[in-house]
Amino acid sequence: MAYFSIRPSLISYLVLVFLLFAATSSASKVVDVNVICNQAQDPSLCSSILNSKPGGTKGADLISLAQYTIDVARVKANDTINLINMLIANSDSDSKGKNHYKACLTNFNKDEGALKDIDYVQELLKNEDYFGISAAARAINIDIDDCITGYDTKDTPYDDKSKLPQHADIVEKVVDIILIISTYLIQN
Ligand SMILES: *[C@@H]1O[C@H](CO)[C@@H](O)[C@H](O)[C@H]1NC(C)=O
Repeated sequence: MAYFSIRPSLISYLVLVFLLFAATSSASKVVDVNVICNQAQDPSLCSSILNSKPGGTKGADLISLAQYTIDVARVKANDTINLINMLIANSDSDSKGKNHYKACLTNFNKDEGALKDIDYVQELLKNEDYFGISAAARAINIDIDDCITGYDTKDTPYDDKSKLPQHADIVEKVVDIILIISTYLIQN
């Protein structure tokens, strides 16, 4: 008789343990860095960024990888803004270039560009809104593409010989890593 009276509570205990595990596993889910980076536009850049995470990536959960990548994206976007400001300051004799760089500043700045959306992605991560992160990451890369392709001046694209296209491309590739991580967070 004792066996039958214990059984329901044992089952509910196991269910409770399972639910607790399910609730915590999405945040602490671990995906190997190589698995993430194999899907990246630039796998070797992806590996070198994620492997530079302080404390290493062995056993690092998705949230901490996402957080680190957001921090890297913020620094790279800020560096790009600093470069654009320098290019604007140095293009007084090149009005077409100046217009192009000003448009790029809008694509990147903290008011309406990539840097603003990177801060938004940070908030979404805190709120565990992983679909939102995926959508925001795509929007950021559309903004950055507009700068690289000179969408603003598409009738006569500006032939940008500065380092800006490479810098912008790196920010895109970092945001691409955030996008990949978000797909794993959504799956959990
Ligand atoms: C952005 O760059 C400026 C100029 O170098 C620096 O003062 C500022 O601290 C940087 N901000 C971030 C968030 O990295």
